[in-house]
Amino acid sequence: MVVGGSHERTQVGIVGAGPAGLLLAVMLRLQGIESIVVEKNSRSTVEAVIKAGVLEQGTVDLMNEIGAGARMMQQGFRHDGVVLRFDGRDERIDFPSLTGGRRVTIYAQHDVIKDLIRMQLEAGGDIRFETSEVGVHDLETSSPVLCFRDKDGVFRQIACDFIAGCDGTQGICRPSIPAGALKVYERLYPFGWFGILCTAPRSAEELIYAMHERGFVLVSTRSPDIQRMYFQCSPREKVNEWSDDRIWAEFRARLATRDGWLPREGPIFSKTVIGMRSLVVEPMRHGRLFLAGDSAHVVPPTGAKGLNLAASDAQILARALTAFYKSNCSDLLDRYSDTALRRVWKATRFSWWMTSMLHTFPGADEFQHRLQVTELDYVTGSRAAAMALAENYVGLPIE
Ligand code: FAD
Ligand code: DHB
Repeated sequence: MVVGGSHERTQVGIVGAGPAGLLLAVMLRLQGIESIVVEKNSRSTVEAVIKAGVLEQGTVDLMNEIGAGARMMQQGFRHDGVVLRFDGRDERIDFPSLTGGRRVTIYAQHDVIKDLIRMQLEAGGDIRFETSEVGVHDLETSSPVLCFRDKDGVFRQIACDFIAGCDGTQGICRPSIPAGALKVYERLYPFGWFGILCTAPRSAEELIYAMHERGFVLVSTRSPDIQRMYFQCSPREKVNEWSDDRIWAEFRARLATRDGWLPREGPIFSKTVIGMRSLVVEPMRHGRLFLAGDSAHVVPPTGAKGLNLAASDAQILARALTAFYKSNCSDLLDRYSDTALRRVWKATRFSWWMTSMLHTFPGADEFQHRLQVTELDYVTGSRAAAMALAENYVGLPIE
């Protein structure tokens, strides 16, 4: 029980205006279900965070179904495949021919966020930015409470039917669940990714995932003039020890092919180090609090599953809440955690497998390296194995 403050009511209180929270809010609104999204950062901050870039076919379909896909269809790049580079050569995985016509779209996460915020606010949706002291209470009752201090310093309490914890890895929702009610599965990887954004023309038509003894490299893109690239580094790598020249020398060394391929270089305007871990918490629900997205699970970035899992959790939760409000049926809510976790674990397996196949592990010997090269040779040489990669990359169906 929380005492004091200004009192309000809504059907679903949503913590976090990331992809999970915003997609959920939009889908609920389209079903006539009210929500209030409470976000700690400002609108301009959440619209500027550089994160993911690869949207699965199902995420693209969802954006279109909810009417948020116009800019994505205009400005995103549809990619029909990826290139796996190993042993100095390129092998391509063709998605449509291996998955019955499915593909991915390259469109930055912060553009997805911008599109969803604009759409939700224009339709009269309620998003509170720049909040602080966010807390969730009375989770085991039929009227959980979401409280926070608003941007003007007013303490507010919202009585909800349900709360959706969409507040990412550093949020307050997961830690609000009593110790002992959750089981946490975690794997830390002994490396990170050094990510850059640079002003340069595209180096390749499609993404390149490159395995090299010096470490993994990913060549991605954001627009015809802005490129996104990553190289495997120590999790403790210091960004300021990497001049542009040193970074480009590392990319050239790791991306070398037998036929002398070179990346297109340009001024680097963003350098960040990303840690790599797999984490899943079970169950994704406590009482009337439902976790969705990174608040419940984290995947290493290899394979680009994080944003897409946030989208599929939001879809599964929106469907369950809709069934509750439209048909007074709580079966789907009761099954939410199991349904979402089945897909989460498949993406966890896929991103762990891609990470293991493509990265150089500290202390790995030549035997290990030959096994990884052989796995890549097999995956790109066998239609069955290529199909397994392709169907996971473009996204498994929601059950
Ligand atoms: P978030 O995006 O983290 O959103 C959570 C929101 O909650 C934030 O806005 C945060 O400010 C807010 N919040 C936190 N705490 C509070 C609080 N106490 N009160 C109120 N609000 C709070 N995934 C892919 O699918 N494809 C990719 O290509 C890909 N590439 C990536 C590249 C990088 C460099 C990184 C870092 C990640 C990448 N990911 C990728 C992962 C993807 O970005 C995340 O999985 C995704 O952002 C998860 O969405 P979310 O809504 O669950 O959480
Ligand atoms: C990007 C990120 C990924 O993790 C990935 O697997 C592919 C692309 C990107 O940021 O473009």
